[in-house]
Parts: sequence; C-alpha cells; structure tokens
Amino acid sequence: MSAVATSRTATAAPPASRPAGLVFDRTDELATAAHEQVVFCHDRATGLRAIIAIHDTTLGPALGGTRIHPYASEAEALTDVLRLSQGMTAKSAAAGMELGGGKAVIIGDPRTVKTRELLLAYGRFVDSLGGRYVTAGDVGSTADDLDVVAEATRWVVGKNKGGSGDSGYSTAYGVFCALRAAARHRFGQGGLAGSTIGVEGVGKVGARLVGLLAAAGVERILVSDPNAEATARLAGNYAAVEVVPSVVDADVDVYAPCALGATLTPQSVAALRARVVCGAANNQLLTHDVADLMHARGVLWVPDYVANAGGVVQVGGELYGHSHETVERGIEAIGHTTDEVLTTAEDLGITTAAAADAVVEARLAARRAELGRQEMGR
Ligand SMILES: NC(=O)c1ccc[n+]([C@@H]2O[C@H](COP(=O)([O-])OP(=O)(O)OC[C@H]3O[C@@H](n4cnc5c(N)ncnc54)[C@H](O)[C@@H]3O)[C@@H](O)[C@H]2O)c1
Repeated sequence: MSAVATSRTATAAPPASRPAGLVFDRTDELATAAHEQVVFCHDRATGLRAIIAIHDTTLGPALGGTRIHPYASEAEALTDVLRLSQGMTAKSAAAGMELGGGKAVIIGDPRTVKTRELLLAYGRFVDSLGGRYVTAGDVGSTADDLDVVAEATRWVVGKNKGGSGDSGYSTAYGVFCALRAAARHRFGQGGLAGSTIGVEGVGKVGARLVGLLAAAGVERILVSDPNAEATARLAGNYAAVEVVPSVVDADVDVYAPCALGATLTPQSVAALRARVVCGAANNQLLTHDVADLMHARGVLWVPDYVANAGGVVQVGGELYGHSHETVERGIEAIGHTTDEVLTTAEDLGITTAAAADAVVEARLAARRAELGRQEMGR
C-alpha cells in the first residue's frame, strides 16, 4: 500500500478544454479553491485505484462520501473529486456542522469492482489519514459496503453496523424543507399547494422526496428515471405520480434534480418552465454563470449544497454522537437557511448562489479568526 500526497503538473501544453494543472495550477473554476491534500491510492493486489481529496479542514475533519464510478480517465475522476470535495466544505459550513470538506472516488464500475478485498484496501488508505478524512456513502457505494470499509478503519460513517445507515431519507427531508421554503418565497403562503413538481431521478433520495411531497398533499408529481421499475413502483404507490420521459423541460412549477449533476446548462435553463429549482443532485450548475442566467430569467434556484445537506447532518451527527432530535433539528434548519439565503438574495438583488457563498465564507472567516486568536493566546 502506498499513499502519495501529491499534485502533478502537466509538462506538455494541455488541450484548451483541459485545466492547465491537475491540482495547483488549474485554470478552470477549481482554480480559486486550493485543496489542502490530494491522495492517490493504488493497491496492486486488488487493482484499487482511488483518489481522496481533502479540500478544507478549517471547520473540522473533512467528511464526504466515496463515489464509485467507471470514469473514462484519471483526469475526469480527479476533476470530479476536487469539485465534490469543494462542495462538501460549502455544504457542511452552510449546514452549521463542525466539519470540513472531503470526498473520495474509486475508479471502476460498482457492479464489478467492489470486492471485499478492494474495499478493505480502500479502508486502509482512509485509515492512513488518521481521521483528517472521514468517509461515507455516495453514488455507487452502499451502507453494506461501508460496513466492510469499517473493518479496516474507524473513520467511516453512514454504515449499517453501529452507524446511522443510508442517508437517503435525511437528504430527501432536507430537500423537502428547502423546497417548502422556496415555494413560499415564489408562490406565496400557499407554498407547494396546487403546484406541479418534477422530480428527476427516483433513487435513494428522489423516491423518498416523492413520498414526502405526496404526504404533504402535492397533487401532481412528474417523475423521470431510466429505471422503469423504480418509476412504476412510485406510480403504483402514489396517485399523484405521473411518469414522463423528461422533467427538466416539462410544464412544472418546481424542478427537483435528484439524479446526476450538471443538468443546469445555458440550454436547459433556456428551456426551463419551472420557476423554482431545488433538488438533491450535487454540482447542478454546469458552470457558475448558469446561476446568473437563472437569476435573469426569474428562476429561484436553491443552491445544491444548501438543499442537500440533510445527509451530512445525519452522518456528521453520527461522528459526533448527536441525538436523533438534534439531527432532526439540524435537517429542519435547512429550511431556515434557505429562507435566509433567498431573502438576502432578494434584498441585495444578487443571485442565490452569491448569497449562499457569502454564508459559507462568513462561517469559514469566523472560524479562521477564532483559530488565529487561539494561536496568539498560546
Ligand atoms: N444519498 C444522499 O444522501 C445524497 C446526499 C447529497 C447529495 N446526493 C446527490 O443526490 C443525487 C441522488 O442521490 P441518490 O443517493 O438518490 O442516488 P441513486 O444512485 O440512488 O439514485 C439516482 C437515480 O437517478 C437515476 N438517473 C440517472 N440518470 C438519470 C437521468 N438522466 N434522468 C433521470 N434519472 C436518472 C438513476 O437511475 C437512479 O435511480 C446524486 O447526485 C447524489 O450525489 C445524495
């Protein structure tokens, strides 16, 4: 096993579409976000190839899930883990958690790559970081997988055995609280009543969100997912559910992206009919300026890292031994944070993205000042 904390800079001139440097000298949107540590993990015996990115530990240990995905290239995996770990810093800060931002990716198809030996080898790498990085579940990894990883390291949350399990429901509940707050802002006191909501992706989070919306009395819920079994199950369970081929451009009041990221692009925003966008997917914007396009079109976007923090409130609570009530209050607070962000954006005439970034920056700056004072007092 060998862990290398590294940044490798390309020596030849890169193609224009690629970042100039891999970590330190990037020229894309990640250029502003200097990561603290990036670890490339290779285990010859099992074929494990993983990257762990620790973005920022100002607020606490870097917590974030392990994504297992058949990336087309190492560069693609690196960009994903850098972006996701940066998002985790913002997510935990906005949710008021004493946690930093980290994430890991394992390169490979989760249907074939996840052997017990590979997960144990991965756990040993996580362990080698001594708690600076704490892992959890993500797309491609399950609470059962985490039980195996936990045999090699204590720095795992969201596991079944002795843990809080899958975070899909907590994330869905947080999105629901955010969505309810956003609907009140956009549609008035009636909020969600009488509105049509489109949920894209009905996996661990989306299916639970549909259940919460149906229980809240939403009369029309359009769902899309290539997994026909999942959509049919929901249509069978809830009279309000209609299955459609695509929701991003459907005639809905609210678009809830709960599948993959980067679905908000200049093209998709031009075709949006929803007046509110709020969902669970990470990194929903293809590029930052898509937030400006939505603002200009009068679309109220709840920044992804604000809306989808329910899972990190749950698993962070597991790390710190929070009670069930504390976790539930933390998830419900996502509704208040959404309120605060949307009100600030409206009052100052800025995008919701800028308002949410300001909340994160203020929290990080306050903690840095506190750490500075402690340092001076020594
Ligand atoms: N699970 C959590 O606690 C959590 C927390 C924060 C953020 N997220 C994010 O929320 C999203 C959903 O997470 P999940 O845990 O439900 O994942 P999941 O893998 O259980 O579900 C994703 C679903 O999206 C569907 N899908 C894929 N491509 C699609 C497309 N083009 N259109 C419609 N549906 C499509 C898949 O078939 C699957 O059913 C992910 O982006 C994840 O990163 C999840």
